[in-house]
Amino acid sequence: LARGAQAPDLAGRHVVVSAGGTREPLDPVRYLGNRSSGKQGYALARTAVARGARVTLVAANSELPDPAGVDVVHVGTAVQLREAVLKAAADADAVVMAAAVADFRPARYAEGKIKKRDGQEPEPVALVRNPDVLAELSADRARPGQIVVGFAAETDDVLANGRAKLARKGCDLLVVNEVGERRTFGSEENEAVVLAPDGTETPVPHGPKEALADTVWDLVSPCLT
Ligand code: CTP
Ligand code: CA
Repeated sequence: LARGAQAPDLAGRHVVVSAGGTREPLDPVRYLGNRSSGKQGYALARTAVARGARVTLVAANSELPDPAGVDVVHVGTAVQLREAVLKAAADADAVVMAAAVADFRPARYAEGKIKKRDGQEPEPVALVRNPDVLAELSADRARPGQIVVGFAAETDDVLANGRAKLARKGCDLLVVNEVGERRTFGSEENEAVVLAPDGTETPVPHGPKEALADTVWDLVSPCLT
C-alpha cells in the first residue's frame, strides 16, 4: 500500500502509544536518561490518525512537535509515564509501548544540587527498579480483547532475546530491532521483526519508521474485537 492511502481500518478505535525516553532525576539539574528520540512512537501516532483512530500519545521528553489530531500527554519519568498510560489505556482498543522506559531510577532525589568536594570520592548512586508498564498492561488488561504491543532493541542473538522477552512480558506482539551504529536511535529509518506468541515472525525491511508503524497497525487491526 502506498503511504497515506490506508483504509480507515482504525475508525472508531482508541489507541494509546508511548514514545520517547524517560528521564529519572538525580537532583534539580541531572537525570539518568536514554537515547530514544521518540520518532518511532510519533510515527505510530501519525499513522494511526491517518487510519481513523482516536490517538493518545504519551510522550516522554521528545523534542518533536505534537502531531496534528493527537491527544498528547507529556511526561518525564517512568512513574509518570505509567500513570498516564494506565489512565489512557482504560478505554483503549490497543496500547503500543514504543517508549524507552528506564529500568531503574535513583533511590534518592537530592533536593539540592549534588556538589563535589576537594579530596572526596563521589558517592555511588543507588538505584531502584521502576515499574514494568508493558508487563502490567499485559497481565491486567483494562478491557477484554485489548491488544498490547511492546518494542525491544536488542544486540547479540536478537531473535532469541526477542522471543524470550515476548513470553516474559505477555504482550500480543513484540517489535524487535537490532541496535548498532547509526541504527535505530535518532534515525529516520528502522528495520525490525514483529514476533507473535504463536511463533509468527513478520520481517519489516529497512525503511521509514512510518512503514514499520503501518505494519504494526496492519497486524493489530484484524485482532481488534
Ligand atoms: N518497558 C516498560 N516498562 C519498563 C521497561 C520496559 O513498559 N520498566 C517496555 C518498553 O516500553 C518496551 C518493552 O517493555 O515496549 C521492552 O523494553 P526492554 O527495555 O527491551 O525490556 P526489559 O524487560 O527492560 O529488558 P532489558 O533488561 O533487556 O532492558
Ligand atoms: Ca529495559
